[in-house]
Amino acid sequence: MRSRTVTSVRTAAHLDVAGMVRVARQRVVDRLREAEVVAAALSAGRNIVLEGPPGTGKTTLLRALADGAGVPLVLVEGNAELTPTRLVGHHDASRVLTEDYRPENFVPGPLTRAMTEGALLYVEEFNRVPEETMNVLLGVLSEREMHVPRYGRVAARPTFRLVAAMNPFDAVGTARVTPALYDRSCRVAMAYQDEDAELRVVEAGTGGEAALVARAVRAVRITRDHPELRIGASVRGAIDTVLIAVELGAVRETPALEEATGLDAALAALTGKVTRGDGVSRPVEDVVADIWRRAGEELGKA
Ligand SMILES: Nc1ncnc2c1ncn2[C@@H]1O[C@H](COP(=O)(O)OP(=O)(O)O)[C@@H](O)[C@H]1O
Ligand SMILES: [Mg+2]
Repeated sequence: MRSRTVTSVRTAAHLDVAGMVRVARQRVVDRLREAEVVAAALSAGRNIVLEGPPGTGKTTLLRALADGAGVPLVLVEGNAELTPTRLVGHHDASRVLTEDYRPENFVPGPLTRAMTEGALLYVEEFNRVPEETMNVLLGVLSEREMHVPRYGRVAARPTFRLVAAMNPFDAVGTARVTPALYDRSCRVAMAYQDEDAELRVVEAGTGGEAALVARAVRAVRITRDHPELRIGASVRGAIDTVLIAVELGAVRETPALEEATGLDAALAALTGKVTRGDGVSRPVEDVVADIWRRAGEELGKA
């Protein structure tokens, strides 16, 4: 007798790795190795922890991979308010009053939607999610299904996967649960990219003139190992600096790189994105102003 292959909905299906990598190449600057590894791991049915500071292209990469695989991406911002109910869904309270608990009264949350649509569920800032919510996700990772009280069994379609993004600089009391997550997923690190890649990211994101882009990129790179800063700025800080400087230059009728204009843009873009180290007393504005000046000097000498 020929053996029959039973594909239960609880089994993960392969994904189009070549398609995922192709779209990532079109939309993501460099990161080819990461794109290939994440695509391969997802296709193999694995879940992923993408570990890296904010602004390192995690969401951009995931969106490209989901599009390349032809599966939906369901994006959830991880924070302390992400309760199990918010993640899973709830019964519409007013309809429950008149009609009691019925499946039609259930408003699915992102996890339920992702499972039933066979989506990539992308939880950003996973380390900020409350522990009881993480436990719900861990259960789904092991079983590919969950039971929702008064609604029933929710089974994951074969393309469902979880991708959790974690910021290594932002460990918020999740020490007890994260080992269990890491044990059930594969980890891909997304470090800051090199200067050349960041120049191309900012260029593509702003269309700003080369000298301004170069100075903004150099400035954010200086923030990352500045002795007075504990947390530096990502390429997002450089993108913001360029975009603001261009607008500010237009309204002031000065070049965007005019000294006061560039500095005002850098202050607006960067002072909120960096964090001073312990014991640093001078204002963050002064630190950023020094960095902006230094970036200009370094590039002027080069
Ligand atoms: N490698 C990259 N290729 C293209 N754009 C990038 C890349 N890295 C960062 N960006 C851009 O920088 C910004 C932040 O990227 P994002 O994917 O939101 O980062 P994260 O999700 O890691 O916080 C976006 O505007 C994004 O387009
Ligand atoms: Mg993101």
